[in-house]
Amino acid sequence: MTHLALYRLLVFNLLEINLRDVLVFHCWSEPEAYPLAGMMSESHIYSQYIQLQQDAGLANIHKDYLDSDITKMGVFLDLGCPQAALLTNQSSRARLYNRRFHWLLFDEMGNLTNLAELFVRANISLDADVTYIEPREGEATDEEEELFVLHDVYSKGSHLGGRLNVTIDQSIQCSRTDCRIRDYLSDLHERTRLQQRMDLTNITFRMAALVSVMPLTSKEEILMRFLSGEEDAHLDSISRLGYRLILHMQDLLHFNLSFTWVGDWSIQDAFGGAIGLLGNESVELCSSPFIPTWNRIHYVHPMVELAEFRAVCIFRTPHNAGIKATVFLEPFMPSVWLAFGALLVLSGCLLWLIFRLEQHGMQRCLDFVPSLLTSCQISFGAACIQGSHLLPKSTGGRLAFIAVMLTSFLMYNYYTSIVVSTLLGSPVRSNIRTVQQLADSSLDVGIDNVPFTKAYLTSSPRPDIRSLYRQKVESKRDQSTVWYGPEEGVLKVRDQPGFVYISEGSFIYHHVEKHYLPREISDLNEIMLRHEGTVYHMIHLNSSYRELITQLEVRLVECGLTSKQRRFFSKTRLQTYSNSFVIQVGMEYAAPLFLSLLGGYSMAVLVLLLEVAWKRTERQSCLLPQEQ
Ligand SMILES: *[C@@H]1O[C@H](CO)[C@@H](O)[C@H](O)[C@H]1NC(C)=O
Ligand SMILES: *[C@@H]1O[C@H](CO)[C@@H](O)[C@H](O)[C@H]1NC(C)=O
Ligand SMILES: *[C@@H]1O[C@H](CO)[C@@H](O)[C@H](O)[C@H]1NC(C)=O
Ligand SMILES: *[C@@H]1O[C@H](CO)[C@@H](O)[C@H](O)[C@H]1NC(C)=O
Ligand SMILES: *[C@@H]1O[C@H](CO)[C@@H](O)[C@H](O)[C@H]1NC(C)=O
Ligand SMILES: *[C@@H]1O[C@H](CO)[C@@H](O)[C@H](O)[C@H]1NC(C)=O
Ligand SMILES: *[C@@H]1O[C@H](CO)[C@@H](O)[C@H](O)[C@H]1NC(C)=O
Ligand SMILES: *[C@@H]1O[C@H](CO)[C@@H](O)[C@H](O)[C@H]1NC(C)=O
Repeated sequence: MTHLALYRLLVFNLLEINLRDVLVFHCWSEPEAYPLAGMMSESHIYSQYIQLQQDAGLANIHKDYLDSDITKMGVFLDLGCPQAALLTNQSSRARLYNRRFHWLLFDEMGNLTNLAELFVRANISLDADVTYIEPREGEATDEEEELFVLHDVYSKGSHLGGRLNVTIDQSIQCSRTDCRIRDYLSDLHERTRLQQRMDLTNITFRMAALVSVMPLTSKEEILMRFLSGEEDAHLDSISRLGYRLILHMQDLLHFNLSFTWVGDWSIQDAFGGAIGLLGNESVELCSSPFIPTWNRIHYVHPMVELAEFRAVCIFRTPHNAGIKATVFLEPFMPSVWLAFGALLVLSGCLLWLIFRLEQHGMQRCLDFVPSLLTSCQISFGAACIQGSHLLPKSTGGRLAFIAVMLTSFLMYNYYTSIVVSTLLGSPVRSNIRTVQQLADSSLDVGIDNVPFTKAYLTSSPRPDIRSLYRQKVESKRDQSTVWYGPEEGVLKVRDQPGFVYISEGSFIYHHVEKHYLPREISDLNEIMLRHEGTVYHMIHLNSSYRELITQLEVRLVECGLTSKQRRFFSKTRLQTYSNSFVIQVGMEYAAPLFLSLLGGYSMAVLVLLLEVAWKRTERQSCLLPQEQ
């Protein structure tokens, strides 16, 4: 008997999903298989044939034939062959029933009991792409043709409680030259494979539940209440955020969860802790998202980003942050100051000229004609918005004086508004801006004792981090004074300006907002310890649920549930109320003024003394000859 109709069906099926590589496990004789090879090459499908003989050494078909880099490959298997059971057994052990292989199983007898027996315990997964072809002899409408019924075979996860599901799909009638679909026997064709398999009832996912702030030996109820509760949202916030989203997923997919409690994210980057459990497939899900690092992405697949992760160093500006001498000169550039000074001197000279002219030209009787120095002082007074009792009387002179007053009025307003905005703008910040500067400074440092911060500090290859660790931790005689819990550290930062505390932003912002006055918040300096990272929910690289869960998480992002939970659990910014408090000008701004006043007075006294001495010697030199 020939199988031309079956061959045509294979080609038809492969072309339907545009698959161009196929492996055929058969036990036909060679002449029987020739027409298939002909049809395949006609349709530009690359095919390979392996004959399953009674005694063929099929030690490792997985390694020998199926271990390829091709993203998707078709595999045809004739279940009627004597070695078929061995082959299905091996494929199951190597877990080859997944999205990478398009399996076509053919049983000439159409014995579904046999199929169930072979596959009922097999590792067949949610993303399996297995089609069972059952021939229906004598049911075709045409003598020349044959009828085949296709079944879809999968399990929601045989090791998690899923059972083999064989669903009838469609019937196809084939001749030796072409095929056509005769009937759809169910509604499978209406949706994609993944969409049909969205219901995970009766599946129990294992989940690594990460709780680091409680002993794992606590009662499970207490741990559960903590993980799903809302109080103290800052504790283990990213793990609880991730768990929330898993609960949303559970609502949609109806799976059950069993918990494995862990206290560590990881022990060596990609091993140990929660990531180790994910990586060796001891669990399917993990409540906590992770930062994808190079080592980790060899084992796990990042799905969607959940939250930001920013480790920061915070400290209040130390009191001796430095006197800001230049704040009162800053409004104008030196060139403007010079030009303004020159302008004042010029207008002083002009005024003097005007006074002289008025005395001589207009024959005005002035009892006192101001000297050049006095007129310069008058124009300086105008610059300080001070009037003068000595004024030109002529209209031209008055106009000149008005011009000087007007110019200084504008300059003065520029000046005051810039000074005010500078003072309002930002409180004095420390000039320590980088981790290296922090390491070299004399400030005391405290560090959160949460494991990942500790691990980053001790193992980072960055020279500035290493230097920070060496100078601030290793050099301490008593290293226990360096590690503080978040609340303690934050309070110490508040009460001790200049004390630096290093921790994760979302941990400490909560305490900062709780304990700090608005003024103290705006006084905080912040240095990034490491680049702002994003944490992702992870799933094992080869997990059969990878596509389903990734799609679902993307949907949660799209409908805003992710950002809603993120806003609740993680704080990435501090709220500062910069408008609601009174600016206080501190000594750092006022000291230069007082100092310059003091300097001015002492200089004035000195000059006065000199003047007095000068006058005295002058008078003596006039008097002495008369006395003689
Ligand atoms: C298939 O594998 C199971 C264990 O996974 C084994 O007990 C059974 O003997 C195997 N069957 C064949 C036909 O190799
Ligand atoms: C399922 O796969 C695992 C390896 O992941 C293997 O140890 C186990 O024997 C397989 N089970 C069957 C029934 O093939
Ligand atoms: C179907 O297969 C099972 C197990 O392989 C066998 O016991 C049964 O007799 C077969 N039925 C028919 C009709 O061949
Ligand atoms: C088997 O899978 C189909 C979809 O492929 C689904 O409609 C049906 O409910 C499943 N049967 C069982 C028992 O889970
Ligand atoms: C879940 O399991 C129960 C009992 O084993 C079964 O009655 C029910 O049909 C299953 N539901 C699905 C959707 O597979
Ligand atoms: C979920 O699994 C737990 C054990 O892991 C079991 O006690 C519980 O009854 C299961 N719930 C459902 C609805 O199957
Ligand atoms: C998986 O990793 C965890 C943590 O590293 C370890 O405790 C567990 O024994 C591992 N399980 C397997 C099956 O390798
Ligand atoms: C994922 O599957 C591929 C192909 O089967 C295998 O080479 C790889 O080692 C697996 N990766 C992991 C992390 O198990």
